[in-house]
Amino acid sequence: MKDLTIIGQVNRHAEQSVWIGCWLHGKRSSGKIQFLQLRDGTGYIQGVVVKSEVSESTWEAAQKLTQESSLYVRGTVREEPRSPSGYELTVHEVEIIQLTQEYPITPKEHGVDFLMDRRHLWLRAPKQRAILVIRAEIIRTIRAFFDERNFTLVDPPILTPSSCEGTTNLFHTKYFDEDAYLTQSGQLYMEAAAMALGRVYSFGPTFRAEKSKTRRHLIEFWMIEPEMAFVDHQESLLVQEQLITSIVHNVLVNCSKELETIGRDVAKLANIAAPFPRISYDEAIRMLQEQGFEIQWGEDFGAPHETAIAEKYDRPVFITHYPAAIKAFYMKPDPNRPEVVLCADMIAPEGYGEIIGGSQRIDDPELLAQRFSEHELSEEAYQWYLDLRRYGSVPHSGFGLGLERTVAWLCGLDHVRETIPFPRMLYRLYP
Ligand code: 4AD
Ligand code: MG
Repeated sequence: MKDLTIIGQVNRHAEQSVWIGCWLHGKRSSGKIQFLQLRDGTGYIQGVVVKSEVSESTWEAAQKLTQESSLYVRGTVREEPRSPSGYELTVHEVEIIQLTQEYPITPKEHGVDFLMDRRHLWLRAPKQRAILVIRAEIIRTIRAFFDERNFTLVDPPILTPSSCEGTTNLFHTKYFDEDAYLTQSGQLYMEAAAMALGRVYSFGPTFRAEKSKTRRHLIEFWMIEPEMAFVDHQESLLVQEQLITSIVHNVLVNCSKELETIGRDVAKLANIAAPFPRISYDEAIRMLQEQGFEIQWGEDFGAPHETAIAEKYDRPVFITHYPAAIKAFYMKPDPNRPEVVLCADMIAPEGYGEIIGGSQRIDDPELLAQRFSEHELSEEAYQWYLDLRRYGSVPHSGFGLGLERTVAWLCGLDHVRETIPFPRMLYRLYP
């Protein structure tokens, strides 16, 4: 193999002759000069081929190149202030690996279904690449955030015998002779892990057979679930706002080029700083009623409600103390007002909806057992979970951050489908 340089590192090779393995993104020609837009995944660079300075075979090879043809190119790296990358390549040699015939995704506009059917190729588009780079930066930030704060990464199982977030959207499968479900949330297992390790977080795929087709729902999505022993609801909110602030900060600092490629209005992200406003469910209901929404105390919020509330703030907002009846069985009631629970949803700005759901957990074994019967969950299936309240129960809290909704918000995308390499959506399993 050739000793290759990657485009992302050409700045280390100014005035040197290098080989690059790449694809042709686009091409322009002015008779005696051809301008090749080259990409190798790590970046873009323009290759300049001057007829009078290259062999006939290199000139002809450059002429033959079609969109997405693969090639090796040798050239001298030149500083070029007018180019977005700051560099250009004076081409000496072109070696075609494969000439591509009729690449299906042309520079013209295509519909989303057309592009989704060709998602395996669409990933090569500059915007799609930028989104995946930002997604990776967000993942890196989240891991570093918890690793630096004495949290231990713990992996809960994917195949589970019971539900965590309610039984309506469970993905069913057979586990030999038993019934099993793909995990909706690792939380219950993370609670066990918190009793063993104190502060833990998980980072993995979760599955929900959501029959609704919305801009915010995926069937398979990635969740980050921290769980903290001896931490109450209020303290958990502090961790959440610090985490989000740190994500926004790192993306702004480390992904400025990618944000520009996507066309994100970064002014809207620059304001994001802790503390985030906290409003109670009661206040949220009042605000919505004042705005003319027909919503009553006790009803859950839909996307339009969340958006209307978020519009009042320039940063994410916590809605706290929801009615127990519309939340999961494990949430701890407010001791002063047992009809509401010690929980919060974090609603992102600009209409991106709920990005975090979290709560303090019930620590009393009797109340927990009572909840199982109220929610018609078989107590037998959760004996192990009840054990956590029987043997050294402590106050503890945790939350779940949805990765794709976070990426959608930071990238300013109107649908979560572009935030994950191969989205699993209602009626879409291909490719
Ligand atoms: O609010 P949820 O359902 O909370 C839980 O699962 C808790 N057990 C988490 C915990 O306390 N450990 O989901 C958490 C987050 C949501 O706020 C949302 O960002 C995301 O997961 N989410 C989805 N993202 C994409 N597609 C879906 N279908 C999602 N469902 C939830
Ligand atoms: Mg939720």
